[in-house]
Amino acid sequence: MGRLDGKVALITGGGRGQGRSHARLLASEGADIIVTDICEPIAEVAPYETSTQADLDETARLVELFDRRCLAVKADARSSVEMGEVVDQAIAEFGQIDILAVNHGVAINLPWDQQTDEIWDTVVETNLSAPWRVAKAVIPHMVSRQRGSIIFTASTAAMTAYPSLSAYSAAKTGVLGLMRSLATELGPHSIRVNAVMPGNTGTPMLHSQSVLDMFNGGPGGSKEKMVFPSQATMLLPIAWLEPEDISEAVLFLASDAARYITGVALPVDGGTLAQPPGIPAIAAERIGALEWQLANRS
Ligand SMILES: NC(=O)c1ccc[n+]([C@@H]2O[C@H](COP(=O)([O-])OP(=O)(O)OC[C@H]3O[C@@H](n4cnc5c(N)ncnc54)[C@H](O)[C@@H]3O)[C@@H](O)[C@H]2O)c1
Repeated sequence: MGRLDGKVALITGGGRGQGRSHARLLASEGADIIVTDICEPIAEVAPYETSTQADLDETARLVELFDRRCLAVKADARSSVEMGEVVDQAIAEFGQIDILAVNHGVAINLPWDQQTDEIWDTVVETNLSAPWRVAKAVIPHMVSRQRGSIIFTASTAAMTAYPSLSAYSAAKTGVLGLMRSLATELGPHSIRVNAVMPGNTGTPMLHSQSVLDMFNGGPGGSKEKMVFPSQATMLLPIAWLEPEDISEAVLFLASDAARYITGVALPVDGGTLAQPPGIPAIAAERIGALEWQLANRS
């Protein structure tokens, strides 16, 4: 018996990465899945790559391996019209939506003096306004059934500072405000609203060249070079989480095991948000070793 038997879950941004992983895990626990993705590049943030139609089709194929039904729809989460159509299709096909995972997002890392108004607007539109629009499309249905679980994907960037991520951080911080307000309004309807806050997670977003270069402090970044600086942000001895680690938290919040949990922002971050102030222990050790080498070089 699965933890989500008889449930239906709608997941945005499921063409790859965490969204695909959520779709697979929730299906493995018995849920039928509606998965959406934009499936085309977003001009303002090129060369940042978003998922393709082939990626979304592959997610549907992977879900169906669990013997669950999957409705995969190309839809821009920024569009109330497109998301309204997705909800209509989902209700026509499955009759209900029990779980909404608002997962889609873009990350553009640029220092303040390189970030144009167009890029700012696109990041805030995608990562904050779109989550609101997606939720608004689904909430009337959940209210009519007097049940539901909504899980927004925020980020550790909602709670701590990262350079070159001002628009992203602002939007993700806003998502927590949105989550808390909706939890208050929807609690009386037995609809729970929570957020997960992933730390560095191994997806195409984290391993895009611009993020690798950011961790490198300049061009020439690579996954290998990212291991130490990324691990320095965590308490646990890992360089980054896997998408499945975030999916487990989404599954818990979606399931009846969390039936009295609402209004919560759950870090899934290897301890990033629990770092004590000052230089991270792993970095202090590395500095100590370098100082020793300098002092003892012949
Ligand atoms: N990877 C990380 O380190 C990390 C850390 C913290 C938070 N997050 C958040 O996790 C979520 C999932 O990201 P991921 O790591 O899987 O990255 P990803 O880039 O692999 O997946 C994001 C997906 O969202 C889709 N998308 C983007 N804009 C869209 C739109 N307007 N409409 C529909 N789909 C759209 C993309 O096509 C892509 O498939 C995002 O909200 C992201 O901000 C990621």
